[in-house]
Amino acid sequence: MNRKDFGDDFFWGVSTAAYQIEGSITADGKGPSIWDVFSKKKNKIFNNQNGDIACDFYNKFTQDLYLIYELKIPNFRFSISWSRIFPNGTGQINQQGIDFYNRVIDLCLELNIEPWITLYHWDLPEKLQEKGGWTNRDIINWFSEFVTCCVKHFGDRVSKWIVLNEPMVFTGAGYFLGVHAPGLRGLNNFIASVHHAAMCQAAGGRIIRSLHPNPYIGTTFSHSYLEPYNTDNVKDHHATKKVDALLNRLFIEPLLGLGYPLADLSILNRIEKFIKPNDMELISFKMDFIGLQVYTRELIKYVPFQPFLQANIVKASQRFVHHTIMDWEVHPDCIYKAVKKIEQYENVKEIIITENGAAFDDDLKDKRIFDLLRKDYLQNHLNKLLKAKKEGSNIKGYFVWTLVDNFEWAEGYKPKFGLVHLDHQTQKRTIKESGFWYRDFLS
Ligand code: NOJ
Repeated sequence: MNRKDFGDDFFWGVSTAAYQIEGSITADGKGPSIWDVFSKKKNKIFNNQNGDIACDFYNKFTQDLYLIYELKIPNFRFSISWSRIFPNGTGQINQQGIDFYNRVIDLCLELNIEPWITLYHWDLPEKLQEKGGWTNRDIINWFSEFVTCCVKHFGDRVSKWIVLNEPMVFTGAGYFLGVHAPGLRGLNNFIASVHHAAMCQAAGGRIIRSLHPNPYIGTTFSHSYLEPYNTDNVKDHHATKKVDALLNRLFIEPLLGLGYPLADLSILNRIEKFIKPNDMELISFKMDFIGLQVYTRELIKYVPFQPFLQANIVKASQRFVHHTIMDWEVHPDCIYKAVKKIEQYENVKEIIITENGAAFDDDLKDKRIFDLLRKDYLQNHLNKLLKAKKEGSNIKGYFVWTLVDNFEWAEGYKPKFGLVHLDHQTQKRTIKESGFWYRDFLS
């Protein structure tokens, strides 16, 4: 397998997100985000860590963009911190925030690296959370203002846009389970935030389309390849179907004009009380591409006493299969299966793998990091992706998660996903073997 097999127009890249790398959480007029607040609460994050410093990308972006250049990665995906641009969420624009992203974009272009902007990667301005955040329908207006501002300021140099990052995860973990910011729980919070996020996804797409002369617009979905734990058990099959509706279908289907998958997910019926006339037309939008973030396979078991779904994920460590630090099974076929499943939807034009990668404990020997497990992981997943591509799937790109080891949300700095190792004491970056492998593959 080599790069050429994927075609000359294939987008190769690396993905990051603002809160996970930038640090400098109060610099130059930035307002607080829900992650700044949530990460300071006791026992929410592994070892009570936070993103105050992270990879110090705010100050070290030049070094990191040069690393991308050195690794010969032609596309860089990063997100905009909403509260750097609008410290209060809406209203007054903070020019210093705009200036920062201008510097990042300009250096990308100078180095011949194409910038890909994710508009929302989970760090909602705290001021908007004080008004209910994603549970408040007004977020459609707040988000529209933010998107408009970004397209107006960056659209002269950026044509690749990703509206939302994994809406299922930020609504599910943030507004239902309470394990991510803002730490809310409950079905009502969840359902309200799902509907508003789905509305914003389409609204964001429409705004970019109307303001930009030649945009390439997408949005990203987490996608787990699911199988019943016991393939002979009808109840496990049924449970898998429900979990699939929740994890994999909940956001893509309304976007494609198919409505919410309520038939397979009756706990969501209450969503109807949040739906206003015309919403189900406004909620759909023709994206140029669908971004899939694929890491693993999950096995689903029927568990009668489990509230809401009567289902559980049987973690990889309980199954004694090869897994990463995240307890995610290493199962390269998941990427092939994800593509095959999503392309069955009629309105999906192009698919990009906007994230794929692995967290392993890295071995630092003689200042080198032989992360062969990560290298194998990437290589094996790419092989499976190529298989789908050769069978005719319309896959247009692949982005590794991530450049430099960074803040992995509730897991803190423990899981390391980077192609580049970070020493948190010194902020020194060291390219891992997987990074050199990616470079050689791309060369
Ligand atoms: C999903 C998210 O988009 C990203 O922020 C996260 O770090 C990776 N996947 C790994 O969990």
